[in-house]
Amino acid sequence: MAAAALAPADSAALVAEHLSRSFGPVRAVVDASISLEAGSVTALVGPNGSGKTTLLLMLTGLLAPDAGRVEVRGLDVATSGAAARRLIGWMPDVFGTWETLTCREVLETFAAAYRLPPAVAKERATTLLATVHLVDLADAPSRVLSRGQKQRLGLARALVHSPAVVLLDEPAAGLDPRSRIELRGIVRDLAEAGVAVLVSSHELAELEEMVDAAVFLQRGVSSFAPPTAALQPWRVHVLDGAAFLAWSAAVGLGVTQEAGGAGAASAVDPAACAGPAGPTHPTGPAGPATFLVSLTGELQAAQLVRDAVTAGVALTRFGPAYGRLEQAYLAMDTDRR
Ligand SMILES: Nc1ncnc2c1ncn2[C@@H]1O[C@H](COP(=O)(O)OP(=O)(O)OP(=O)(O)O)[C@@H](O)[C@H]1O
Ligand SMILES: [Mg+2]
Repeated sequence: MAAAALAPADSAALVAEHLSRSFGPVRAVVDASISLEAGSVTALVGPNGSGKTTLLLMLTGLLAPDAGRVEVRGLDVATSGAAARRLIGWMPDVFGTWETLTCREVLETFAAAYRLPPAVAKERATTLLATVHLVDLADAPSRVLSRGQKQRLGLARALVHSPAVVLLDEPAAGLDPRSRIELRGIVRDLAEAGVAVLVSSHELAELEEMVDAAVFLQRGVSSFAPPTAALQPWRVHVLDGAAFLAWSAAVGLGVTQEAGGAGAASAVDPAACAGPAGPTHPTGPAGPATFLVSLTGELQAAQLVRDAVTAGVALTRFGPAYGRLEQAYLAMDTDRR
């Protein structure tokens, strides 16, 4: 009897349940489950060695799990072979290619492997070379590409057969700033077109700008809802550091001064700042300065701004010190291995 289909949400393009994989004594992925929605981008986040690449390889069907299964649009990747793989676009973290083939030939060869008619393959290669800005290198052997150019060719290769699910393993690694911005655009365009995208990256601020959901991996264990800390750091830029310190001491607000705006931070004990508030606190820097304050949320932040402005403390910028993904990551027990 055929195994019962997994029961994803209607729009889930890929569903994986209870995936596990060990390498000898190392439990790389432990009972991980994941669901990717059509038309959305999901982040895959976790420290080095947490099992991201291992999980992605199992989702593509390139690595057999010890337990669990993966379905793409209802097809089991373990048993449906080419039909399931045809639905998946895969960009590995390191892109190996046939060094003698030109960029265009790499794309046309992969398109042919997916049984695209030659005319369609040619057109697809031309379109994608333009998308990843490799038109000038279209007829150059792929071995001459720089690292970032190879990454871009790897992205084009992953998209050549117009897959329904796209899995990207650290696609931004080695890309210059403009290419990173373009990558975000390409990923969002894929989602707009109905593709389900899963993207792993350590660049959490960049990731945050393109994702709709996130899956966190900790020592191979997946979770959708990482713990969030009760207190979150906010960054405040002030015109007069001494005045801000004096005020924060007077109101009992614990602050940490950031050296050079975003460098090493040094704690400032509010107790040490006790005493009458005044514009020339002895430990405070004269002139512009940056501090971190721990707050419970936006309500407390709004109160801080109101109180500081009422007290005549000049704030020039104020906002969360980290994005939501960074915050969630920092709240995890981020053990590397
Ligand atoms: N082929 C393999 N043989 C033995 N151990 C492996 C193999 N592949 C992965 N591992 C181990 O499995 C664990 C997870 O590795 P994986 O590459 O999936 O991590 P990752 O989250 O992708 O890390 P990174 O952020 O560094 O890319 C690591 O401890 C790694 O050493
Ligand atoms: Mg990896």
